[in-house]
Amino acid sequence: MSNNEKTRGVFQTAIIPAAGLGTRFLPVTKTVPKELLPVVSTPGIEIIAGEAAEAGADRLVIVTSDRKTGVMAYFNEDPVLETALEKQGKEVMLHRVRRAPGLIKVESALQEKPLGLGHAISVAEDHLTEDEDCVAVLLPDDVVMPTGVLEEMEEVRNRFGGTVLCACEVPGEEISAYGVFDVEPTGDPADEGRVMRVKGMVEKPDPEDAPSNFAAVGRYILDRSIFGALQRIEPGAGGELQLTDAIALQVEEGLPTHVVVHHGVRHDLGNPGGFIRASVDFALQDETYGSDLREWLKDRLKQDVDG
Ligand code: UTP
Repeated sequence: MSNNEKTRGVFQTAIIPAAGLGTRFLPVTKTVPKELLPVVSTPGIEIIAGEAAEAGADRLVIVTSDRKTGVMAYFNEDPVLETALEKQGKEVMLHRVRRAPGLIKVESALQEKPLGLGHAISVAEDHLTEDEDCVAVLLPDDVVMPTGVLEEMEEVRNRFGGTVLCACEVPGEEISAYGVFDVEPTGDPADEGRVMRVKGMVEKPDPEDAPSNFAAVGRYILDRSIFGALQRIEPGAGGELQLTDAIALQVEEGLPTHVVVHHGVRHDLGNPGGFIRASVDFALQDETYGSDLREWLKDRLKQDVDG
């Protein structure tokens, strides 16, 4: 049996919370959900849904709000459009249009008010079946490349149980923008630099107070007991129910909690600056647009240097 086969099936459900207001991306998010903004031509949420399906999830629960109905609609089949594309012989477009509805079974959970990420996760609980003892959460703002970190996290859950989180190493001067892990070695030399035990978590610390350079990335395998912990926390920063607070409470209570370090690229689609970087990165790798863009960028940057 390959390593991948062994670790398959740790979680069946993946939650994508997508009911936030997207204030950092106003004004477009007044009417267009940020999850549907195109990275080249594919909405960010399709990239994330693809990652969940690839990691072996059977079901995606998208937490959404009445203001953001387009997010679920994107995962519906569109027979009228598909027939038109078929008639016109537009096979490539037809394949692209069919990809999202064919990826994975998608269900929606309604968050009536944006009361925080922790609250958004709690409204998805009813979608889990009784036998599920953990659940994956993928934040649609965070793109991690290459994919595969969820499979590594599954392997860690198999070894230690409990909750498994994901981190990226970031330079000291940038650390205050993130949730930061207080970590220690697992004791297994094979885990060094890759898997660590979490002792605590600090939200957006000053650089001198940061317990490490390991910042939280939006991938989680949460022990099912998280739903109970979410009932036991009080609203935190911004009056919202914070997922970080529930995880920190469970660490304090002794739930095994580990972090897997992602060594690849991470993009933040949740603000225009990060979104532009991701778009350029994906576009440079695109077979239609990549080479033209590369040439244009070289010229454009040369103009800056030449003044
Ligand atoms: P963010 O804080 O990054 O997203 O939440 P936001 O609230 O949409 O963005 P800003 O801060 O106003 O610009 C992380 C994730 O949690 C979801 C968001 O949709 C995002 O995917 N979320 C947040 C919810 O689903 N519900 C909430 O009440 C809050």
